Amino acid sequence: MAKLTFSLMLLCFVFAMAVVQSTVQGFEENNHEWFQKLQDAKENLTKLHFYFHDVQSGKNATSVKVVEVANTSKSATSFFGEVNMIDNLLTEGPKRRSKLVGRAQGLYGFASQEEMTLIMAMNFVFTSGNYNGSSLTILGHNPVLHQLREMPIVGGTGVFRLARGFAMAKTFSLNTKSGDAIVEYNVTALHY
Ligand SMILES: *[C@@H]1O[C@H](CO)[C@@H](O)[C@H](O)[C@H]1NC(C)=O
Ligand SMILES: *[C@@H]1O[C@H](CO)[C@@H](O)[C@H](O)[C@H]1NC(C)=O
Ligand SMILES: *[C@@H]1O[C@H](CO)[C@@H](O)[C@H](O)[C@H]1NC(C)=O
Ligand SMILES: *[C@@H]1O[C@H](CO)[C@@H](O)[C@H](O)[C@H]1NC(C)=O
Ligand SMILES: *[C@@H]1O[C@H](CO)[C@@H](O)[C@H](O)[C@H]1NC(C)=O
Repeated sequence: MAKLTFSLMLLCFVFAMAVVQSTVQGFEENNHEWFQKLQDAKENLTKLHFYFHDVQSGKNATSVKVVEVANTSKSATSFFGEVNMIDNLLTEGPKRRSKLVGRAQGLYGFASQEEMTLIMAMNFVFTSGNYNGSSLTILGHNPVLHQLREMPIVGGTGVFRLARGFAMAKTFSLNTKSGDAIVEYNVTALHY
């Protein structure tokens, strides 16, 4: 019995390695072709519009506090030092059940001792249409109480390879009790 189990495990392992090998090979071939075309490629401009759902309350919270320091609540902003990990839904419309575009995965932290300002370090991971499987990376300064905030796009994957651009964010709604917020985003990205 033990021998059979071991053989099965070995078989599974060999099979898994074969899958990994062919995936890696496919990826390399794909990259080679992509690099060859890059020289003559034209840059594409893509504009995206969606809503970001920062849900901190309830059973289905997608934004969770992962750390704060002893002094956080005593700081001038009441939040300095707090960090949230997010897996927030990105939807086409402002309603949470509106069509899913992707997810915002990453971190934001309260980074100012004087103002309600976040450092955003997150990936927009797209799951719909042409962008399914592609991502954009945002690393920026987000003074959340300002009406309009601008954050840089510092890179991307898939159709967004070599991306650079910017994201404009505007709070659509904020529940000051629960902390839940819906934020409208316009993203403009150049990529190949
Ligand atoms: C949480 O998610 C489950 C599964 O998608 C859903 O049935 C439930 O209504 C959600 N609860 C809330 C409070 O949104
Ligand atoms: C943190 O709290 C301690 C004790 O209350 C205080 O001495 C210290 O100055 C505070 N530090 C900051 C950065 O606010
Ligand atoms: C996105 O891609 C994944 C993996 O290839 C696939 O399973 C999924 O059905 C796709 N989703 C859409 C909406 O096309
Ligand atoms: C960029 O635009 C060209 C021409 O419109 C198109 O052929 C190409 O597929 C686009 N590339 C991406 C990554 O969307
Ligand atoms: C996004 O663009 C639309 C159309 O130009 C505009 O009405 C909206 O205010 C913009 N929102 C943000 C957050 O930039």
